[in-house]
Amino acid sequence: MSQKILSIKQIKEDASRELEAAADIDAIQALSVRYLGRKGFVTLFLRNISTLPEDQRPYAGEKANELKSFLKQKFENKIEKLQAEAADAEKYNSIDVTLPGRKGDQGTLHPITIIGNKICDIFLRIGFDIAEGPEIETDYYNFEALNIPKDHPARDMQDTFYTVNNLVLRTHTSPIQARVMEKVKPPVKIIAPGKVYRCDSDITHTPMFHQVEGLVVDKNISFADLKGVLTVFIHQIFDKDTKMRFRPSFFPFTEPSAEVDISCVICRGKGCRICSNTGWIEILGSGMVHPAVFENVGYNPEKYTGFAFGMGIERIAMLKYGVDDIRKFFENDIRFIGQF
Ligand code: DAH
Repeated sequence: MSQKILSIKQIKEDASRELEAAADIDAIQALSVRYLGRKGFVTLFLRNISTLPEDQRPYAGEKANELKSFLKQKFENKIEKLQAEAADAEKYNSIDVTLPGRKGDQGTLHPITIIGNKICDIFLRIGFDIAEGPEIETDYYNFEALNIPKDHPARDMQDTFYTVNNLVLRTHTSPIQARVMEKVKPPVKIIAPGKVYRCDSDITHTPMFHQVEGLVVDKNISFADLKGVLTVFIHQIFDKDTKMRFRPSFFPFTEPSAEVDISCVICRGKGCRICSNTGWIEILGSGMVHPAVFENVGYNPEKYTGFAFGMGIERIAMLKYGVDDIRKFFENDIRFIGQF
């Protein structure tokens, strides 16, 4: 089959028009064969150059080669463009726009935050205010003001983290008592939640944990008031069937002092591993504010009396949620802390 030799101008026009009309990659590949293939128009033109007058050959050869590269590039460009469009369409078709969107994971409050808030809410409802104090505390407020002089054996009760310049990481929230009383005159009715630090670590102790301190001072405050407030608190944080008892104890900043036990929330007093078969569980320390503490903050102990108490939030949380290892609260395993 012999084909007509077309002019360069003609080839260029025809090819451009046909390329414009080519709708898919197959059509462009066919065009490429038709123009650049072994028997394509451009190839034929090149082969035919030898029949031209000698002085026209270099010019014709140059123009034909230019056209060859030009068309090759145009075909490739359009193929790439169609491929990109196809990939886009594929992406679009593979998205099911009717599917519901992906929800982000929702965070939860940490169990210690939840219990801390619950404890505070109960006291806020019966008229307490919230007070705060620094976690890096002076030796004076952490100990001296609370009637714990240097070298007093009571300092051994708490494994203190000492820093520099007589500063310590507070070992309890009790120093807030002294700070509040220094600032305000009675009546005082506060609770003070916060982090505390002790150099201690095992299944029931972590170097940082949380306490809530309570303090009530006024004229004629008695141990009966302490019992009343703690009864309300225990019935609300646990339940109305929870029994409570005072057990004589010692704290340098209270006299008399008592530890408070509740009937075991696990076995209901029958005796189990958690309560060491006693039926009772200790939950806090308390007592009547020691006159020496009042003197340290400038209150007249002849005029005012008060009670104080302090409890560990982790301990309450462990009992309420039945958690047997305090360290679980601080490992931040989302499977654990997301359960509350
Ligand atoms: N501060 C004590 C402790 O950390 C707890 C405590 C006991 C606080 C008796 C009090 C209290 O206010 O009256 O072990």
